[in-house]
Amino acid sequence: MFSRFQQPATTLARGLATSSPNNVAVAVMGASGGIGQPLSMLLKLNPAVTKLNLYDIVHTLGVASDLSHCETKATVTGFVGEDQLEASLVGAEIVVIPAGVPRKPGMTRDDLFNTNASIVAKLSAAAAKVCPDAMIAIISNPVNSTVPIASEMFKKAGTYNPNKVFGVSTLDVVRANTFIGEKKGLDPASVNCPVVGGHAGITIMPLISQCTPAVQFPADELKALTERIQDAGTEVVKAKAGAGSATLSMAYAAARFTDSLIKAMSGQEGVVECAYVASNVTEAKYFSTPLLLGPNGIEKNLGLGNLTPFEQDLLKASLPELNGSIKKGEEFAKNY
Ligand code: NAD
Ligand code: LMR
Repeated sequence: MFSRFQQPATTLARGLATSSPNNVAVAVMGASGGIGQPLSMLLKLNPAVTKLNLYDIVHTLGVASDLSHCETKATVTGFVGEDQLEASLVGAEIVVIPAGVPRKPGMTRDDLFNTNASIVAKLSAAAAKVCPDAMIAIISNPVNSTVPIASEMFKKAGTYNPNKVFGVSTLDVVRANTFIGEKKGLDPASVNCPVVGGHAGITIMPLISQCTPAVQFPADELKALTERIQDAGTEVVKAKAGAGSATLSMAYAAARFTDSLIKAMSGQEGVVECAYVASNVTEAKYFSTPLLLGPNGIEKNLGLGNLTPFEQDLLKASLPELNGSIKKGEEFAKNY
């Protein structure tokens, strides 16, 4: 029996090599970057992936040549420069987008908007034209705005399917699981804490009251843990001191999310991931909640569940920022 918060262990995507064999074609857009390279590596190691197209504006021929020597069955092809953008998307069933600039210390994710909005718009427009049925997984920040931008590009092309456009917020869940595991002495792979809302600061809302196994913290610890999860991206940006933001943990998180999409596409039941998607759950038009995934993307939005007063306050505080970021993305796309 499927339950909202207790996923069968086999669907947790913690062991990427457990994917049921399939023949999935994946395109990585921004494949030469800090996330793109390790993500491409993890996808090359996934036995369900048989075709891996790597697109970037630089260096993909070298990355593809290098990866292609790994003794797994995925055929790896590099595509470089805008002339090869559409070719890189032919036949793609999943398009993962980590293209764009990362933060430096002192910046917010929204400070990346001016550069990354047009990158995501361009890549989404090409996907909407060449592989309109593909699952689209957007990593590029600010996710709270880039997902609305991508959605608008699909709408313009007349190929929008809200069940197939995802903002990848898996890293927030991965961090929540890790930090809770550390605090409670649990194997983090056995922890599952939903994280809802958006992917920036106070819009990141861990629902620790819904964690499995159930965990409890005194109020001050709960507040500090929640804030650590909300600020975890900034923690990495500070530690990298100008050399970018999270890349390795993000590659892991994106590989986990892609593997869950693959499992759901191949008919595995009970696959649940949180992701930032078009939503009716709150007043925000895009919102992350646990989603039951199926062969056609979102099969069912599992909603927010029961929130504690502390979590209700987090939600109230996040909505104005979330709505503003969504509107900003939509306005940009309108004029693109
Ligand atoms: P990076 O600078 O190392 O790599 C970005 C890559 O994108 C580069 O190889 C660059 O050449 C490429 N690129 C630039 N313009 C492009 C275009 N028009 N088409 C295709 N590729 C293009 O950056 P990174 O560390 O890999 O981060 C990438 C993005 O992911 C950033 O926006 C970052 O903020 C975001 N990010 C999101 C999450 C999340 O949880 N969603 C986590 C970490 C990072
Ligand atoms: C993260 O959460 O690590 C990413 O969104 C990158 C960042 O800028 O913090």
